[in-house]
Amino acid sequence: MLKELLQNILPTVVFDFLKRKKLQFSLLWHLMQAYRYDMNRYIRFSDTFGSNTAQKLIGKIIKEYHVVEKGLTMPDTKLGFGRELLFNLATNCRQYIEKYGETDEQLEHAVGVVLEYEQFHQNCMFQLEAVVANSIHDLKQVVAKTTVCRQKDASIEDYFRYSESPFFQFAKSRSSIRNYSTENIPTEKLIEVLDLARTAPSACNRQCWRTYVFENKDQINSILIIQGGNRGFGHLVNKLIVITAEVGVFANVGERNESFIDGGIYAMNVLYALHYYKIGACMLNCSNTIEKDLTLRKLCDIRESEVFIAMISCGIPPENFRIALSKRYDLGKTNTLR
Ligand SMILES: Cc1cc2nc3c(=O)[nH]c(=O)nc-3n(C[C@H](O)[C@H](O)[C@H](O)COP(=O)(O)O)c2cc1C
Repeated sequence: MLKELLQNILPTVVFDFLKRKKLQFSLLWHLMQAYRYDMNRYIRFSDTFGSNTAQKLIGKIIKEYHVVEKGLTMPDTKLGFGRELLFNLATNCRQYIEKYGETDEQLEHAVGVVLEYEQFHQNCMFQLEAVVANSIHDLKQVVAKTTVCRQKDASIEDYFRYSESPFFQFAKSRSSIRNYSTENIPTEKLIEVLDLARTAPSACNRQCWRTYVFENKDQINSILIIQGGNRGFGHLVNKLIVITAEVGVFANVGERNESFIDGGIYAMNVLYALHYYKIGACMLNCSNTIEKDLTLRKLCDIRESEVFIAMISCGIPPENFRIALSKRYDLGKTNTLR
């Protein structure tokens, strides 16, 4: 009724302007509600405010043991690396066992990684600091089953043996590679990679992905210093692919996360394409704070309408190298038949 009244008394231009404004306000309101809805779930269930559930604690433990796995497979593993990390990992594993038992397979793997760390240092006749040695000792007191892990040894020939094989072998043969030789990857090769990677599916075929390929060593280094997750191998990176997604092709509340979904699917396709072309690669997170995001935007010179998805460090692996185990959960843990 009010609408009809306004339509009758207001000039058409004014009426249309108000109508547009009302629609914009309503969209803005719904967007704010949606982001609040997302935020509430993150606040309630992420590990941000204390690891008070088994799920949160195991997530923390996986993250910690993964850093140890990376350290053990670095081109030059530093003796005594990750002192505080090891202490936290051993303590968290002990706490987990005391609270929730010893049956989680990731927990079991984490203990195996701690033991591998200990054995690695014993083999190198390196005395661990008392605080670390004691935390490992305390952990051993509460575990019933102790299997020492062993990160994978690989040769370049073995690693790429299945890179052109059917998908089953191909997918199972890909791993994150964090060791690169000085061999250059020709730019043309990377163009072939990106050509193959654009076969990725996307919502309504909008192909929001954008890539920026960095070849200059100084530029790569300054980006990787800010990225932060490449300690021990970043200096060996030959080419760096920065993947972003263009937000402009999406609209309304329902598509607020589509750039990350489609961008992520594309990033995986790039990773597989690199493996097909026998290029060693490791995805690098763009889990940025606001400050980090702003700094990276400047360094990478990306458009304001784009969001970071991930980076991929690329290089030709050396003759022999090591690969982190990165143990996967059993099928039953992450899949539900309904
Ligand atoms: C989105 C994303 C971000 C990642 N960030 C990093 C990183 O910053 N540093 C790193 O060394 N590995 C990083 N990785 C690699 C993972 O650690 C690796 O994929 C995982 O452990 C599984 O191992 P795999 O790739 O060998 O199968 C990242 C992977 C993904 C998918």
